[in-house]
Amino acid sequence: MHRSLWEEKGKKSMDKKALRQSRERKRRQIRRRKIIRAVVYLLGAVLLVIFVSRGIVKPIIRRIFGSGPDDSNTLRTEAVESDPNAAIRRPLKRVTDTEKLTALTPGWHENAEGRWYQNTDRTYFAGGFMSIDGVQYYFNEDGYIVRDDWITLGVKDYYFDETGSLEPQRNHPLLALTFDDGPGPYTNRLLDALEKYNARATFFMLGIQIEEYPDILPRMQELGCELGSHTWNHKDLTTLSLEGVKEQFRDTDDLMLSVCGQTAKIARPPYGSWNDDVLETAGKPFINWCVDSMDWSYKDAQKDYESILSADGLGDGAIILMHDIYEPTVACVEMLIPKLQEMGYKLVTVSELAEASNVDLQLATYTNFWKSSLEAGDVPGYRGTATTESSYEPFEFTISDGYGEYREEESTEDTEDIYEDESEEEEYQEEDSSEAYDEEYSEEESW
Ligand code: NI
Repeated sequence: MHRSLWEEKGKKSMDKKALRQSRERKRRQIRRRKIIRAVVYLLGAVLLVIFVSRGIVKPIIRRIFGSGPDDSNTLRTEAVESDPNAAIRRPLKRVTDTEKLTALTPGWHENAEGRWYQNTDRTYFAGGFMSIDGVQYYFNEDGYIVRDDWITLGVKDYYFDETGSLEPQRNHPLLALTFDDGPGPYTNRLLDALEKYNARATFFMLGIQIEEYPDILPRMQELGCELGSHTWNHKDLTTLSLEGVKEQFRDTDDLMLSVCGQTAKIARPPYGSWNDDVLETAGKPFINWCVDSMDWSYKDAQKDYESILSADGLGDGAIILMHDIYEPTVACVEMLIPKLQEMGYKLVTVSELAEASNVDLQLATYTNFWKSSLEAGDVPGYRGTATTESSYEPFEFTISDGYGEYREEESTEDTEDIYEDESEEEEYQEEDSSEAYDEEYSEEESW
């Protein structure tokens, strides 16, 4: 009995001790839980602050103050600005055309609108050239490639076949129609024809004629035609003093400036007559011709027309001489323009012809921009070909520009080489772009 009493007492005190211990344990547990909860809350709060500042505050600051110079957006913009013809990457999230959003895999995709290309970083190409696996494509503003069609960029045309591959050998041959001794009473009608067929021409004008028809010069400018000088009153410049030569060009330039706000950047000496002193004194590239229509002697639209179409010099890069002061010449041009266009020619100004031929016009005399003349080194200021090689690897893109010379069908074999040489390649930097993408579109991220 005693023993059991002691035992009972002992048990009671043991119970009390155990109870105290378990209470202590529970208290400790609660404290630990409180600490863990506090840490979790704190972490949550920190993350919230980060996301809010990234997603809301940063875009607002950016919108108010604009992008800073160290923003990786600028990398992206610079890359595009350095080559305005290169495609850019657009995030799929920005696209309104939901068909693109449903495509889950990178690579080529096709829908009713056409073919487009998805990158690994969920962007797609748009608005420019992009080389993929060694093939040059052109992506339109909506991100679809151009197929079996032409596009025009600056002075150059580019053709893409049914698969969307650029055919550098296929190009419009170019011609420069030039008209001397005007402007005259028929020049406006000639401009009507140019406007109707979306063609351009170059006018080598006399000061004395501009005095009579000043209003026509602004219209020439509006139509994209080129305004050249043919001196003041058509004297053979080689018979004049150099002071006299200077006056011929200065007076004409002064009048042009007052009539239409520009002087002549190119000139044609009367009778095609010149020497080095005359050229230097004039201070403008001299543009002569390789096809003489003889319109001044025929004064017959049909004969003018036939003489031009049968001329040996007619071909890509030719400069054709005519005179817009004769009515039959203008009647000839009304037939000639659609005929030449039907033959595949594109009618451009002399400066456009030079630019498309990779020629920087010098203080020299030019008669044509035929491929044969360029290659023979007969055309001053010809830039020739660049020699940048390009390597194509999967998901490494190259941006190209500066190709697209017209070539004859039979020269298809060397086309590839020439095309490689002429293109100025730029490596596409994937890393920079995806960073820029994250930065730019972080406000739209859903976390
Ligand atoms: Ni003349």
